Amino acid sequence: MEDFATLTYNGQKITLPVVIGTEGERAIDISNLRAETGFITLDPGYANTGSCLSAITYMDGEKGVLRYRGIPVEQLAEKSTFKETAYLLINGRLPNREELTRFSVMLNDNSLVHEDLKTFYQNFPRASHPMGILSSMVNALRSFYPALTTLNLREEITITMTRLLAKIRTMAAMSYKISRGHKVVYPRSDLTYCENFLNMMFDNPVRPYQINREAVNALRVFWILHADHEQNCSTTAVRVVSSARVNLYAAISSGIAALWGPLHGGANQAVIEMLTAIQADGGSHKKAIERAKDKNDPFRLMGFGHRVYKTYDPRAKIMKKMCDELLESLQINDPLLDIAKELEEVVQKDPYFIDHNLYPNVDFYSGIVLRAIGIPTSMFTVMFAIGRLPGWIAQWKESVDDPKWKICRPRQVYTGAQAYDFVPIHARV
Ligand code: SDX
Repeated sequence: MEDFATLTYNGQKITLPVVIGTEGERAIDISNLRAETGFITLDPGYANTGSCLSAITYMDGEKGVLRYRGIPVEQLAEKSTFKETAYLLINGRLPNREELTRFSVMLNDNSLVHEDLKTFYQNFPRASHPMGILSSMVNALRSFYPALTTLNLREEITITMTRLLAKIRTMAAMSYKISRGHKVVYPRSDLTYCENFLNMMFDNPVRPYQINREAVNALRVFWILHADHEQNCSTTAVRVVSSARVNLYAAISSGIAALWGPLHGGANQAVIEMLTAIQADGGSHKKAIERAKDKNDPFRLMGFGHRVYKTYDPRAKIMKKMCDELLESLQINDPLLDIAKELEEVVQKDPYFIDHNLYPNVDFYSGIVLRAIGIPTSMFTVMFAIGRLPGWIAQWKESVDDPKWKICRPRQVYTGAQAYDFVPIHARV
């Protein structure tokens, strides 16, 4: 459906097409703006700029709505599995029984990594951050799995997507085991995707890991909630890098690097560090709140605020409820959860946060869930990356399938020096 907008400047008038989305969002299509007027637009941080048409994820930031391929995330969190949700995001619909079985077998068959990868891990400094390791190792996968000339492009894409989904949890667990000098645990075909990850992380020769149903369910929900989120920073990185026609491993590696940032996926680790600092300060959140409101202080209240959600992040609602249920079932009392709830209570009454529409986002309670499962804080953002991988792959595939797919190359407004001649060194002061 199309509509039109008119732009006038200094007597010059241009009519621009308006694109209208399935849910009524409107966008002015400026594809021909520079060719017809010489003008470009300026939008630091792209807060007002749509980069693509997409049919994968829908968000309504005012109403706190999130749907994957039309299905509300609340329903997927309650009824689906992470594997099934990954299939939905990548293929555009839920799999039938036969398709899901085939997908499971492919993930299992590809879940091992080349044994030589272990030497890579063993040579990282022990204190390396797991996100830096994961980003490097995903890029390194390309060297172990070069393009298969015997396959057509479709088959090549399918096998590469499957390899990444199957291997990322093996690589994450391997990184953890090797960082602790422990024996690497291999994936098993008799375990589900989530069970396998927890077993690879926590099983060891003297104390075999007992699959804990509540922990597996919490991980299932955690990964479903993180699976996609339209054109966020790391997904945009994947789309931009892959637009140069680089391989999927390199594009995903760039997404992992972007997600590492504390303003993005790194916030889940930063939230726990912030709550721990509040705990050390006798549980007083006063200092954190004052710093967050101080314009001269770069400190932000981690886990609060969002570029799109100007209301409660629907994922945070589910995560908060899961904290209560999981900690009760595991009989864990985590003082950081009480501090988090108190902080939320104070913030939601504070005019600064109300005026700025700052509510808890997905990262505010997610760390409490991961702590209860036994995941080390340094691996929290890796957990986010494993969850987001199906979304990155789905978004990458959508851009590859777009007939108008072109290299991403924004313009700029130049504010530097005007032209002047080179000054030889002897003439410079
Ligand atoms: C994720 O995009 C996605 O979808 C991301 C994500 C996904 O699933 O991919 O949802 C995952 O990244 C969630 C966000 C995790 N990050 C954090 O929790 C870090 C803390 N939050 C902020 O840094 C911030 O809210 C952002 C980065 C999330 C959003 O920043 P914006 O949209 O660029 O907003 P802004 O920085 O321009 O802030 C607008 C105003 C400013 O005040 P004014 O100068 O206008 O007076 O709000 C203030 C900011 O100072 N503000 C905050 C704040 N967040 C915004 N003030 C204090 N604490 C905060 N957390």
